[in-house]
This record gives sequence, C-alpha cells and structure tokens, in this order.
Amino acid sequence: MNQQRLIVMDDAQALYVRAAEEIAHLAGEAICTHGEFIICLTGGSTPASTYELLATRFRLSVDWKEVQFFWGDERCVRPDDPASNFGMANRTMLSKLPLRPEQIHRIRGEEEPADAASDYERELRRSFQLQRLEDLPSFDLVLLGLGENAHVASLFPHHPALHEKTRLAVAVDVEATPSKRISLTMPMINNAERVWFLVSGESKAGAVKSVLQGPADPEQYPAQLVKPHTSEIVWMMDKAAARRLE
Ligand code: 6PG
Repeated sequence: MNQQRLIVMDDAQALYVRAAEEIAHLAGEAICTHGEFIICLTGGSTPASTYELLATRFRLSVDWKEVQFFWGDERCVRPDDPASNFGMANRTMLSKLPLRPEQIHRIRGEEEPADAASDYERELRRSFQLQRLEDLPSFDLVLLGLGENAHVASLFPHHPALHEKTRLAVAVDVEATPSKRISLTMPMINNAERVWFLVSGESKAGAVKSVLQGPADPEQYPAQLVKPHTSEIVWMMDKAAARRLE
C-alpha cells in the first residue's frame, strides 16, 4: 500500500498558497536535477487559485521555459469554452507566463472525442520520445482533484475506463456536465514520479473519508486506484475536506 502523506491547511486560501509553494519548489528541484519539469494539470475549479498564484506570487520562483504542461483530462468543448480545463489554466496561469507554444500539450477537446483521445496519445508518445508500445510516459508530477463521487481525472465510478490497461488516453461519456470527456488512464497516472491531490471544501469530506478510510472498493471510489509505483501520494486539503477523517 502506498504511503499517503496528508497536508491539511486551515482554510482554502492557505491550501492554495501551500500547493503553489510546493509545486514551485518541486519545479525548481526537477529543473535542477534533470533540466525540465513535466507537470500534468488537473481541471475542475479547485486548482484555479493555485495556478493564479504560480503565475503571480511564485512567478520568479520557477524557470518557466523549462516546464512542459499536460492535462489529466479535458471536457469535449472548445478551448475558449468556460468548461474547458485548458481554458481555465490558460486564463489563470499559462497566458501570464513567458511560454513557447510547444511547451503546452493540451487535449483538443473540440475534436471528435475518439480522435482527441488518440491525438493526445500520439502527442504523449511523441513528446516523451517513446519507442515501444508498452513504454509509458512518466510525469514529474500529476495533480489530481477529487470529485464528490471520488472520481479522479475523468475516471468515474463503475466506468469501463477504470480498467483500461494499454491506452494512455480514452474518450468517456460520464454522468457529469459536460458528459463527453477525454481522460488519462490509470496506468498513466500511476507511472508518474509523484501524485498530489488538491482537495477543498466540505462537499468533498465524504469522498475523502471513503477513499482514505473506507472499505476497499475502487469501482465505487476510483481514487483508490491511484497507486503510483515510485512514490508516496500527497493529499493537500483544507480542514473542511479532511473533516471526517479519524
Ligand atoms: C474535471 C476534473 C475532475 C475534477 C474533480 C473536482 O475535469 O472535472 O479534472 O477530475 O478534478 O471533478 O472538481 P472541482 O475541483 O471542480 O471540485
């Protein structure tokens, strides 16, 4: 069983700042040790303030030209749609940083879902210069949010995509709005150097409790499938999200 490290902050604002600090620090370490920092961003609403802080208060802490940006999932919408995960990251962070277009590897949510998934898989294999089909990219950091139903990325409870073993990215149709999405698969998430959860608010307390202290039922709680091979999992939360933990 993976080590799970919990960082519980007093409130949401303290959480957002701590997360930005930790990400900036890790980016510096990665660039120092291997010349680049490859981050897989999460979508949803929770990371928005942290992304903003990275582009403002922590802007000078990171050599941004050495950072590669990927996404864990995307909604099947245009990049300028309010529901776009790329759109949110671009508004809050990317558009404010001195980046080259080739540093941004977004999921093309505006395409046909199956095409967008295979397009993203090709982009992952090209960017990581993977030769063999069985080779998997390894991000320095995968950031994950947590749904109230304990979904991660766009891997929802009882969905066949939970069991995908070979493809890196899949198109899914889930009970959420928008329903059509593209998601990285679990082998991709678990091949990361590090996986950090960013979870805020009372509405997530039940899911946090079930995932960390509930019965082992990954079909019901997909976040339980997050088991990176090489590292501990870090849960960065505020007190409201951690409220039901013993
Ligand atoms: C998405 C996300 C998803 C998200 C959770 C939490 O595209 O929706 O990647 O996995 O992280 O649903 O979302 P909130 O942060 O909005 O609560």
